[in-house]
Amino acid sequence: MHIHQHARPLREQIASWRAQGECIAFVPTMGNLHQGHLSLVETARQQANARLRTVVSIFVNPMQFGENEDFDTYPRTLEDDISKLQQAGVDMLYVPAVSEIYPGGVGAATRVLPPAELTELLEGESRPGFFTGVATVVNTLFNIVRPDIACFGEKDFQQLLVIRRMVADLAMPVRVLSAPIVREPDGLAMSSRNRYLDAAERATAGKLYVCLQHLVSEVQSGADSHYAVMHASQELENHGFVVDYVVIRRQQDLAVPGAGDTRLVALAAAWLGKTRLIDNMCFEINKL
Ligand code: PAJ
Repeated sequence: MHIHQHARPLREQIASWRAQGECIAFVPTMGNLHQGHLSLVETARQQANARLRTVVSIFVNPMQFGENEDFDTYPRTLEDDISKLQQAGVDMLYVPAVSEIYPGGVGAATRVLPPAELTELLEGESRPGFFTGVATVVNTLFNIVRPDIACFGEKDFQQLLVIRRMVADLAMPVRVLSAPIVREPDGLAMSSRNRYLDAAERATAGKLYVCLQHLVSEVQSGADSHYAVMHASQELENHGFVVDYVVIRRQQDLAVPGAGDTRLVALAAAWLGKTRLIDNMCFEINKL
């Protein structure tokens, strides 16, 4: 596996792959890799019909962390990550320093501002500036790697919509693929932040998935969705979560569903002690 900290040699290697007619698939991450991240590499491989090179980046992006968030303590496990990527047969790893991505400092950097209709709700409401940070860094990484394909997880459902929208609005020449949520045996969505959970919290954490399942099946069997959402929140609180939001939205744009909408997604964010967990579940109904 080629490992690069700087854009220039990375670009030269990628250019030589392209010259041989190979296609470039890219998976941006913040590291502390788990099966969820690795599934994105697999998704790229399965969808691509050309000869494919896979590029993964690991960059804990300061621009997407709020003042009181976990930038400093975010798990950094580069040695482990490298061996996982090698085992997965990834062709290239890009591990830039903050000064490479933001040469003039984070505060002075040009930003990509995704539209308010996608960012001033849910994750964006709880984490102001988060999606600007994500869109900005993904744009920069795309410009460095220039991938044909980029893969993102449905675990971060709103992030996926923001990226798709950025790619469409800015006419970026990249095909965005998504991969389903990879879960632990008890249903907990894999996440680098799960390691913040203590043993008791970890034992409870799978209930977030269980509550979403209950919510979806209640709505699918015709329950009033406001009631079902309240019920799910209550169930979470009973398990010891502090609920940030539980909602049902349209899959395509996260708008509040109207009578004719059938493709929906249940989304939740909740605190367990000091750890904030998010999860979601896509589903269909005949009619609201
Ligand atoms: P990170 O949290 O490291 O996630 C990198 C990618 O892995 C994202 O596309 C995310 O949705 C996906 N992912 C994480 N857990 C997953 C799971 N359990 N199942 C499936 N996919 C999963 O998301 C980010 O980093 C950053 O915001 C980034 C896009 C890299 C920009 O900095």
